[in-house]
Amino acid sequence: MTTVTDTWATHPDQFWLRGQAPPTVVEYAEKLGFWKVYGYPEAVRILADPRTFSSDTSRFVPRQDFVEGNLPTMDPPEHHKLRKLVSRAFTPKVVADLEPRLAELTNDLLDQVGADGTDGGRTDGRMELVADLAYPLPVTVIAELLGVPSSDRHLFKQWVDGAFNSSEQFSLVEPSERQRRAMDQAFEQLHHLTDYLGEHAAERRRHPREDLLTKLVEAEVDGERLSDTAVVNFANVLLIAGHITTTMLLGNTVLCLDAHPDAAARVRADRSLVPAAIEESLRFLSPFAALARVPTTDVELGGSPIPAGQMVMVVLAAANRDPRQFTDPNVFDPARDPNPHLAFGRGIHFCIGAPLARLEGRVALNILLDRLPHLRTDPDEPPTFLPSPNLTGVRTLPLLLDPR
Ligand code: HEM
Repeated sequence: MTTVTDTWATHPDQFWLRGQAPPTVVEYAEKLGFWKVYGYPEAVRILADPRTFSSDTSRFVPRQDFVEGNLPTMDPPEHHKLRKLVSRAFTPKVVADLEPRLAELTNDLLDQVGADGTDGGRTDGRMELVADLAYPLPVTVIAELLGVPSSDRHLFKQWVDGAFNSSEQFSLVEPSERQRRAMDQAFEQLHHLTDYLGEHAAERRRHPREDLLTKLVEAEVDGERLSDTAVVNFANVLLIAGHITTTMLLGNTVLCLDAHPDAAARVRADRSLVPAAIEESLRFLSPFAALARVPTTDVELGGSPIPAGQMVMVVLAAANRDPRQFTDPNVFDPARDPNPHLAFGRGIHFCIGAPLARLEGRVALNILLDRLPHLRTDPDEPPTFLPSPNLTGVRTLPLLLDPR
Protein backbone atom coordinates (compact mmCIF):
# COMPACT_ATOMS: atom_id res chain seq x y z
CA MET A 1 0.00 0.00 0.00
CA THR A 2 1.36 3.45 -0.84
CA THR A 3 0.48 6.46 1.22
CA VAL A 4 0.61 10.19 0.57
CA THR A 5 3.77 10.39 2.64
CA ASP A 6 5.57 7.57 0.79
CA THR A 7 5.43 9.79 -2.23
CA TRP A 8 5.66 13.37 -1.02
CA ALA A 9 7.80 15.29 1.48
CA THR A 10 5.58 16.17 4.46
CA HIS A 11 6.90 17.78 7.67
CA PRO A 12 9.43 15.40 9.32
CA ASP A 13 7.86 15.90 12.79
CA GLN A 14 4.49 14.57 11.59
CA PHE A 15 5.43 10.92 12.13
CA TRP A 16 1.78 9.77 12.17
CA LEU A 17 1.54 10.61 8.48
CA ARG A 18 4.14 7.92 7.84
CA GLY A 19 2.04 5.37 9.72
CA GLN A 20 4.38 5.46 12.74
CA ALA A 21 3.01 5.04 16.25
CA PRO A 22 3.79 7.70 18.91
CA PRO A 23 6.40 6.79 21.56
CA THR A 24 3.63 6.92 24.18
CA VAL A 25 0.11 8.42 24.38
CA VAL A 26 1.33 11.39 26.43
CA GLU A 27 4.90 12.71 26.44
CA TYR A 28 6.77 15.71 27.81
CA ALA A 29 8.83 17.42 25.12
CA GLU A 30 11.84 18.60 27.21
CA LYS A 31 13.34 20.97 24.69
CA LEU A 32 10.00 22.58 23.91
CA GLY A 33 8.77 22.78 27.49
CA PHE A 34 5.28 21.41 26.89
CA TRP A 35 3.30 18.17 26.81
CA LYS A 36 2.13 16.37 23.71
CA VAL A 37 -0.99 14.24 23.81
CA TYR A 38 -1.26 11.72 20.98
CA GLY A 39 -3.95 9.33 22.24
CA TYR A 40 -7.60 9.59 21.18
CA PRO A 41 -9.34 9.00 24.56
CA GLU A 42 -6.85 11.34 26.25
CA ALA A 43 -7.51 14.03 23.62
CA VAL A 44 -11.28 13.67 24.04
CA ARG A 45 -10.96 13.92 27.81
CA ILE A 46 -9.10 17.23 27.47
CA LEU A 47 -11.42 18.77 24.88
CA ALA A 48 -14.56 17.74 26.77
CA ASP A 49 -13.46 19.39 30.02
CA PRO A 50 -12.84 23.13 29.52
CA ARG A 51 -12.97 23.77 33.25
CA THR A 52 -9.88 21.60 33.87
CA PHE A 53 -8.23 22.32 30.51
CA SER A 54 -8.35 26.04 29.76
CA SER A 55 -8.02 27.43 26.23
CA ASP A 56 -6.43 30.61 27.54
CA THR A 57 -2.83 30.11 26.44
CA SER A 58 -2.03 33.83 26.43
CA ARG A 59 0.58 33.45 29.20
CA PHE A 60 2.78 31.51 26.74
CA VAL A 61 2.66 34.14 24.05
CA PRO A 62 5.24 36.93 24.42
CA ARG A 63 2.80 39.62 23.21
CA GLN A 64 -0.86 40.16 24.03
CA ASP A 65 -1.90 42.03 20.84
CA PHE A 66 -4.46 39.46 19.70
CA VAL A 67 -5.89 38.20 23.00
CA GLU A 68 -9.03 40.36 23.38
CA GLY A 69 -11.97 38.97 21.41
CA ASN A 70 -10.00 35.91 20.27
CA LEU A 71 -12.74 33.27 20.47
CA PRO A 72 -10.64 30.07 20.36
CA THR A 73 -8.53 31.16 23.34
CA MET A 74 -11.47 32.19 25.56
CA ASP A 75 -13.00 30.21 28.41
CA PRO A 76 -16.59 30.13 29.71
CA PRO A 77 -18.62 32.17 30.40
CA GLU A 78 -17.08 34.84 28.08
CA HIS A 79 -16.50 32.27 25.36
CA HIS A 80 -20.18 31.32 25.23
CA LYS A 81 -21.34 34.94 25.03
CA LEU A 82 -19.02 35.79 22.17
CA ARG A 83 -19.64 32.57 20.24
CA LYS A 84 -23.38 33.18 20.36
CA LEU A 85 -22.91 36.43 18.43
CA VAL A 86 -21.98 34.65 15.21
CA SER A 87 -22.99 31.01 15.65
CA ARG A 88 -26.32 31.49 13.86
CA ALA A 89 -24.50 32.61 10.69
CA PHE A 90 -22.87 29.18 10.38
CA THR A 91 -25.62 26.65 11.14
CA PRO A 92 -26.04 23.86 8.55
CA LYS A 93 -29.41 25.37 7.53
CA VAL A 94 -28.06 28.89 6.93
CA VAL A 95 -24.95 27.54 5.24
CA ALA A 96 -27.03 25.33 2.89
CA ASP A 97 -28.32 28.50 1.19
CA LEU A 98 -24.75 29.23 0.10
CA GLU A 99 -24.58 26.11 -2.09
CA PRO A 100 -25.51 27.83 -5.39
CA ARG A 101 -22.91 30.55 -4.78
CA LEU A 102 -20.25 27.95 -3.96
CA ALA A 103 -21.03 26.05 -7.18
CA GLU A 104 -20.96 29.27 -9.21
CA LEU A 105 -17.60 30.31 -7.76
CA THR A 106 -16.09 26.86 -8.29
CA ASN A 107 -17.29 26.75 -11.91
CA ASP A 108 -16.04 30.28 -12.61
CA LEU A 109 -12.62 29.41 -11.21
CA LEU A 110 -12.42 26.20 -13.26
CA ASP A 111 -13.56 28.10 -16.38
CA GLN A 112 -10.38 30.13 -16.01
CA VAL A 113 -8.34 26.93 -15.91
CA GLY A 114 -10.04 25.92 -19.16
CA ALA A 115 -9.17 22.27 -18.83
CA ASP A 116 -12.41 21.00 -20.28
CA GLY A 117 -12.35 23.22 -23.31
CA THR A 118 -14.07 26.24 -21.73
CA ASP A 119 -13.81 29.29 -24.00
CA GLY A 120 -11.28 31.79 -22.79
CA GLY A 121 -9.60 29.36 -20.39
CA ARG A 122 -5.96 28.28 -20.45
CA THR A 123 -5.07 25.34 -22.67
CA ASP A 124 -1.84 23.98 -21.19
CA GLY A 125 -3.52 20.92 -19.65
CA ARG A 126 -2.38 21.84 -16.14
CA MET A 127 -3.64 23.56 -13.03
CA GLU A 128 -2.16 24.46 -9.67
CA LEU A 129 -4.97 23.49 -7.32
CA VAL A 130 -4.21 25.97 -4.53
CA ALA A 131 -3.88 29.11 -6.67
CA ASP A 132 -6.63 28.10 -9.09
CA LEU A 133 -9.31 26.85 -6.68
CA ALA A 134 -8.44 25.76 -3.14
CA TYR A 135 -7.35 29.25 -2.04
CA PRO A 136 -9.72 31.57 -3.94
CA LEU A 137 -12.90 29.58 -3.22
CA PRO A 138 -12.95 29.62 0.61
CA VAL A 139 -11.31 33.03 0.95
CA THR A 140 -13.91 34.59 -1.37
CA VAL A 141 -16.75 32.97 0.58
CA ILE A 142 -15.55 34.12 4.01
CA ALA A 143 -14.71 37.61 2.67
CA GLU A 144 -18.24 37.91 1.27
CA LEU A 145 -19.76 36.75 4.58
CA LEU A 146 -17.66 39.19 6.58
CA GLY A 147 -18.25 41.98 4.08
CA VAL A 148 -14.69 42.78 2.96
CA PRO A 149 -13.75 42.89 -0.73
CA SER A 150 -12.66 39.46 -1.95
CA SER A 151 -10.63 41.28 -4.62
CA ASP A 152 -8.17 42.02 -1.78
CA ARG A 153 -7.46 38.32 -1.41
CA HIS A 154 -3.89 38.67 -2.76
CA LEU A 155 -3.22 40.91 0.28
CA PHE A 156 -4.69 38.38 2.73
CA LYS A 157 -2.55 35.67 1.13
CA GLN A 158 0.62 37.68 1.47
CA TRP A 159 -0.07 38.47 5.14
CA VAL A 160 -1.31 35.03 6.18
CA ASP A 161 1.46 33.13 4.35
CA GLY A 162 3.95 35.48 6.01
CA ALA A 163 2.45 34.82 9.45
CA PHE A 164 2.58 31.01 9.23
CA ASN A 165 5.99 30.72 7.69
CA SER A 166 8.05 28.98 10.36
CA SER A 167 8.87 25.28 10.15
CA GLU A 168 9.91 25.15 13.81
CA GLN A 169 7.90 24.56 16.96
CA PHE A 170 8.33 27.56 19.29
CA SER A 171 10.21 26.43 22.40
CA LEU A 172 8.79 27.66 25.72
CA VAL A 173 12.08 26.82 27.44
CA GLU A 174 14.66 28.44 25.26
CA PRO A 175 13.40 29.93 22.02
CA SER A 176 16.18 30.37 19.47
CA GLU A 177 16.85 33.73 17.85
CA ARG A 178 15.30 32.34 14.67
CA GLN A 179 12.14 31.30 16.52
CA ARG A 180 11.83 34.74 18.11
CA ARG A 181 12.25 36.41 14.73
CA ALA A 182 9.59 34.13 13.23
CA MET A 183 7.21 35.07 16.05
CA ASP A 184 7.88 38.81 15.52
CA GLN A 185 7.31 38.40 11.81
CA ALA A 186 4.02 36.58 12.44
CA PHE A 187 2.79 39.43 14.67
CA GLU A 188 3.85 42.02 12.10
CA GLN A 189 1.98 40.26 9.30
CA LEU A 190 -1.15 39.74 11.40
CA HIS A 191 -1.14 43.44 12.26
CA HIS A 192 -1.46 44.25 8.55
CA LEU A 193 -4.62 42.16 8.56
CA THR A 194 -6.07 43.66 11.75
CA ASP A 195 -5.29 47.22 10.54
CA TYR A 196 -7.11 46.38 7.34
CA LEU A 197 -10.11 44.92 9.20
CA GLY A 198 -10.11 47.90 11.56
CA GLU A 199 -10.63 50.27 8.64
CA HIS A 200 -13.55 48.19 7.36
CA ALA A 201 -15.06 47.93 10.87
CA ALA A 202 -14.90 51.72 11.27
CA GLU A 203 -16.64 52.09 7.91
CA ARG A 204 -19.40 49.69 9.06
CA ARG A 205 -20.03 51.75 12.18
CA ARG A 206 -20.74 54.69 9.87
CA HIS A 207 -22.57 52.70 7.18
CA PRO A 208 -24.03 49.43 8.45
CA ARG A 209 -24.68 46.62 5.97
CA GLU A 210 -25.99 43.07 6.00
CA ASP A 211 -22.73 41.35 6.87
CA LEU A 212 -20.86 39.76 9.78
CA LEU A 213 -18.61 42.75 10.35
CA THR A 214 -21.69 44.95 10.89
CA LYS A 215 -23.09 42.30 13.22
CA LEU A 216 -19.89 42.43 15.26
CA VAL A 217 -19.69 46.22 15.49
CA GLU A 218 -23.36 46.38 16.56
CA ALA A 219 -23.27 43.37 18.91
CA GLU A 220 -23.74 43.79 22.65
CA VAL A 221 -22.44 41.49 25.37
CA ASP A 222 -23.92 42.13 28.84
CA GLY A 223 -25.34 45.40 27.53
CA GLU A 224 -22.01 46.69 26.22
CA ARG A 225 -20.64 47.04 22.71
CA LEU A 226 -17.49 45.07 21.88
CA SER A 227 -14.32 47.16 21.92
CA ASP A 228 -12.72 48.00 18.56
CA THR A 229 -9.89 45.60 19.37
CA ALA A 230 -12.28 42.75 20.17
CA VAL A 231 -14.24 43.30 16.92
CA VAL A 232 -11.09 43.28 14.86
CA ASN A 233 -9.54 40.24 16.57
CA PHE A 234 -12.77 38.29 16.26
CA ALA A 235 -13.08 39.19 12.56
CA ASN A 236 -9.43 38.25 12.11
CA VAL A 237 -10.06 34.76 13.51
CA LEU A 238 -13.08 34.32 11.24
CA LEU A 239 -11.19 35.47 8.16
CA ILE A 240 -8.12 33.30 8.80
CA ALA A 241 -9.83 30.19 10.23
CA GLY A 242 -12.49 30.57 7.55
CA HIS A 243 -10.13 29.93 4.70
CA ILE A 244 -6.70 28.46 5.47
CA THR A 245 -8.17 25.24 6.81
CA THR A 246 -10.60 24.75 3.93
CA THR A 247 -7.80 25.42 1.46
CA MET A 248 -5.92 22.61 3.21
CA LEU A 249 -8.98 20.35 3.18
CA LEU A 250 -9.46 20.71 -0.58
CA GLY A 251 -5.79 20.10 -1.35
CA ASN A 252 -5.56 17.19 1.08
CA THR A 253 -8.65 15.49 -0.33
CA VAL A 254 -7.29 15.66 -3.88
CA LEU A 255 -3.92 14.31 -2.60
CA CYS A 256 -5.62 11.45 -0.71
CA LEU A 257 -7.62 10.39 -3.76
CA ASP A 258 -4.57 10.71 -5.98
CA ALA A 259 -2.50 8.49 -3.68
CA HIS A 260 -5.30 5.90 -3.44
CA PRO A 261 -6.56 5.24 -6.98
CA ASP A 262 -8.96 2.47 -5.91
CA ALA A 263 -10.61 4.82 -3.43
CA ALA A 264 -10.71 7.53 -6.10
CA ALA A 265 -12.41 5.19 -8.57
CA ARG A 266 -15.03 4.26 -5.96
CA VAL A 267 -15.79 7.90 -5.18
CA ARG A 268 -15.96 8.84 -8.87
CA ALA A 269 -18.37 5.97 -9.51
CA ASP A 270 -20.54 6.58 -6.44
CA ARG A 271 -20.87 10.24 -5.56
CA SER A 272 -22.86 9.45 -2.45
CA LEU A 273 -19.42 8.63 -1.00
CA VAL A 274 -18.18 12.24 -1.38
CA PRO A 275 -19.18 13.39 2.15
CA ALA A 276 -17.58 10.31 3.76
CA ALA A 277 -14.44 10.75 1.61
CA ILE A 278 -14.16 14.32 2.90
CA GLU A 279 -14.50 13.15 6.51
CA GLU A 280 -11.81 10.54 5.86
CA SER A 281 -9.53 13.16 4.34
CA LEU A 282 -10.02 15.24 7.53
CA ARG A 283 -9.05 12.23 9.65
CA PHE A 284 -6.17 11.08 7.46
CA LEU A 285 -4.58 14.48 6.79
CA SER A 286 -6.00 16.66 9.58
CA PRO A 287 -5.43 20.33 8.63
CA PHE A 288 -5.06 21.67 12.20
CA ALA A 289 -2.69 19.02 13.52
CA ALA A 290 -2.60 20.31 17.12
CA LEU A 291 -4.46 22.52 19.63
CA ALA A 292 -3.16 24.03 22.87
CA ARG A 293 -4.70 23.79 26.35
CA VAL A 294 -3.53 24.55 29.90
CA PRO A 295 -4.61 22.46 32.92
CA THR A 296 -6.02 24.64 35.70
CA THR A 297 -5.15 22.01 38.31
CA ASP A 298 -2.68 19.11 38.57
CA VAL A 299 -3.96 16.21 36.45
CA GLU A 300 -2.95 12.71 35.49
CA LEU A 301 -3.23 11.80 31.84
CA GLY A 302 -2.18 8.58 30.14
CA GLY A 303 -0.21 7.68 33.27
CA SER A 304 1.71 10.99 33.32
CA PRO A 305 1.27 13.58 36.08
CA ILE A 306 0.86 17.01 34.45
CA PRO A 307 1.26 20.02 36.74
CA ALA A 308 -1.26 22.86 36.58
CA GLY A 309 -0.18 25.70 34.32
CA GLN A 310 1.99 23.71 31.89
CA MET A 311 1.03 23.80 28.23
CA VAL A 312 -0.49 20.70 26.65
CA MET A 313 -0.62 20.27 22.88
CA VAL A 314 -3.45 17.98 21.84
CA VAL A 315 -2.17 16.39 18.65
CA LEU A 316 -5.51 15.84 16.91
CA ALA A 317 -3.87 14.44 13.81
CA ALA A 318 -2.13 11.67 15.79
CA ALA A 319 -5.28 10.95 17.85
CA ASN A 320 -7.08 10.53 14.54
CA ARG A 321 -4.82 7.52 13.88
CA ASP A 322 -5.14 5.91 17.31
CA PRO A 323 -5.75 2.16 16.74
CA ARG A 324 -7.75 2.06 19.99
CA GLN A 325 -10.39 4.13 18.20
CA PHE A 326 -9.99 3.51 14.46
CA THR A 327 -9.69 0.13 12.75
CA ASP A 328 -6.75 0.13 10.32
CA PRO A 329 -6.02 3.79 11.08
CA ASN A 330 -3.36 4.06 8.39
CA VAL A 331 -5.73 2.96 5.65
CA PHE A 332 -7.56 5.68 3.71
CA ASP A 333 -11.10 4.33 3.56
CA PRO A 334 -13.48 6.70 1.73
CA ALA A 335 -16.50 4.86 3.15
CA ARG A 336 -15.33 4.74 6.79
CA ASP A 337 -18.39 4.74 9.03
CA PRO A 338 -18.51 5.75 11.82
CA ASN A 339 -15.68 8.24 11.58
CA PRO A 340 -15.58 10.22 14.85
CA HIS A 341 -12.38 12.09 13.93
CA LEU A 342 -11.30 15.14 15.91
CA ALA A 343 -10.24 17.33 12.97
CA PHE A 344 -12.85 19.96 13.91
CA GLY A 345 -12.12 19.64 17.62
CA ARG A 346 -14.71 18.55 20.18
CA GLY A 347 -16.79 20.21 22.91
CA ILE A 348 -17.51 23.90 23.41
CA HIS A 349 -14.88 25.09 20.89
CA PHE A 350 -16.01 22.64 18.17
CA CYS A 351 -15.35 24.38 14.86
CA ILE A 352 -18.04 26.93 14.21
CA GLY A 353 -17.34 26.75 10.47
CA ALA A 354 -17.55 22.95 10.13
CA PRO A 355 -20.87 22.99 8.19
CA LEU A 356 -19.44 25.58 5.79
CA ALA A 357 -16.13 23.71 5.33
CA ARG A 358 -17.98 20.44 4.71
CA LEU A 359 -20.25 22.06 2.13
CA GLU A 360 -17.35 23.78 0.38
CA GLY A 361 -15.52 20.45 0.26
CA ARG A 362 -18.54 18.57 -1.11
CA VAL A 363 -19.42 21.14 -3.79
CA ALA A 364 -15.83 21.66 -4.97
CA LEU A 365 -14.95 17.97 -5.04
CA ASN A 366 -18.08 17.02 -6.99
CA ILE A 367 -17.44 19.72 -9.58
CA LEU A 368 -13.76 18.79 -9.86
CA LEU A 369 -14.71 15.14 -10.45
CA ASP A 370 -17.41 16.13 -12.98
CA ARG A 371 -15.24 18.45 -15.00
CA LEU A 372 -11.77 16.94 -14.74
CA PRO A 373 -11.90 13.18 -15.31
CA HIS A 374 -8.10 12.79 -15.68
CA LEU A 375 -7.01 14.96 -12.73
CA ARG A 376 -3.72 13.67 -11.26
CA THR A 377 -0.46 14.81 -9.64
CA ASP A 378 2.59 15.52 -11.76
CA PRO A 379 5.57 13.30 -10.82
CA ASP A 380 7.90 15.95 -12.27
CA GLU A 381 6.41 18.74 -10.19
CA PRO A 382 5.68 17.54 -6.65
CA PRO A 383 3.39 19.38 -4.25
CA THR A 384 4.94 21.63 -1.62
CA PHE A 385 3.63 21.62 1.95
CA LEU A 386 2.94 24.37 4.48
CA PRO A 387 6.05 24.71 6.65
CA SER A 388 4.34 24.73 10.08
CA PRO A 389 4.63 21.54 12.17
CA ASN A 390 1.07 22.21 13.42
CA LEU A 391 -0.57 22.37 10.01
CA THR A 392 -1.00 19.70 7.37
CA GLY A 393 -1.78 21.00 3.92
CA VAL A 394 -0.30 21.82 0.56
CA ARG A 395 1.05 25.23 -0.33
CA THR A 396 1.11 24.29 -4.03
CA LEU A 397 -0.36 21.27 -5.79
CA PRO A 398 0.42 21.12 -9.52
CA LEU A 399 -1.99 18.82 -11.38
CA LEU A 400 -2.16 17.36 -14.88
CA LEU A 401 -5.54 17.39 -16.56
CA ASP A 402 -5.20 15.71 -19.98
CA PRO A 403 -5.62 11.99 -20.60
CA ARG A 404 -2.32 10.11 -20.08
C1 HEM B 1 -11.58 22.01 7.04
C2 HEM B 1 -11.79 23.17 7.57
C3 HEM B 1 -11.64 23.48 9.04
C4 HEM B 1 -10.97 22.80 10.02
C5 HEM B 1 -10.15 21.52 9.92
C6 HEM B 1 -11.17 23.54 11.26
C7 HEM B 1 -10.67 23.15 12.49
C8 HEM B 1 -11.04 23.74 13.68
C9 HEM B 1 -10.69 23.23 14.99
C10 HEM B 1 -9.86 21.99 15.26
C11 HEM B 1 -11.24 24.06 15.92
C12 HEM B 1 -11.20 23.89 17.43
C13 HEM B 1 -10.25 24.84 18.12
C14 HEM B 1 -10.08 24.53 19.60
O1 HEM B 1 -10.78 23.69 20.17
O2 HEM B 1 -9.21 25.15 20.22
C15 HEM B 1 -11.89 25.14 15.19
C16 HEM B 1 -12.51 26.20 15.77
C17 HEM B 1 -12.99 27.27 15.04
N1 HEM B 1 -13.16 27.35 13.68
FE1 HEM B 1 -12.64 25.95 12.34
N2 HEM B 1 -11.91 24.65 10.99
C18 HEM B 1 -12.24 24.65 9.64
C19 HEM B 1 -13.01 25.57 8.98
C20 HEM B 1 -13.51 26.71 9.52
C21 HEM B 1 -14.29 27.70 8.80
C22 HEM B 1 -14.73 27.60 7.33
C23 HEM B 1 -14.55 28.69 9.68
C24 HEM B 1 -15.33 29.93 9.30
C25 HEM B 1 -16.03 30.60 9.95
C26 HEM B 1 -13.97 28.32 10.96
C27 HEM B 1 -14.00 29.07 12.13
C28 HEM B 1 -13.67 28.59 13.37
C29 HEM B 1 -13.82 29.35 14.61
C30 HEM B 1 -14.34 30.77 14.73
C31 HEM B 1 -13.40 28.52 15.64
C32 HEM B 1 -13.36 28.84 17.14
C33 HEM B 1 -14.59 28.28 17.80
C34 HEM B 1 -14.59 28.45 19.30
O3 HEM B 1 -13.55 28.69 19.89
O4 HEM B 1 -15.68 28.33 19.88
N3 HEM B 1 -13.35 27.11 10.83
N4 HEM B 1 -11.77 24.90 13.83
